[in-house]
Amino acid sequence: MEKKPKLVYITRKEHFNAAHRLYNPTWSDEQNEAFFGKCANKNYHGHNFDLYVTLKGYADANSGMVMDLKKLKLVIKEQIVDQLDHMNINEDVPFMKGQLASIENIVVAIWDRLEPFIENGKLHCIKLVETERNYVEYFGEE
Ligand code: NI
Repeated sequence: MEKKPKLVYITRKEHFNAAHRLYNPTWSDEQNEAFFGKCANKNYHGHNFDLYVTLKGYADANSGMVMDLKKLKLVIKEQIVDQLDHMNINEDVPFMKGQLASIENIVVAIWDRLEPFIENGKLHCIKLVETERNYVEYFGEE
């Protein structure tokens, strides 16, 4: 009897350190400070980010894998970690240029960069953990 393929979710966890500040250039400094508080600090602040990239798909009949996690690791390293690690997200990261450096905007930017490199299965979730208590997830939805 033929085995029915089963949908599985695979996740690679990566890590980077980066600085940012929350600042809306269309507001005055006072408005930014009133709204964002310490997060608007003009000298920036840093986080130790944990990034979770989850794909969903069916294991390939030959490899038994959705996508080789070694390959996924390399793509995340080249496209994301090498771009963000030890960087100032507001100033140093071309793919965040002109965007407010919020975790929400960062996860969407990470999704857009990684999606073309997913060889099998589909990108399911980008999860970015900013602090022990705060994280943001993006599922590719409008
Ligand atoms: Ni922050």
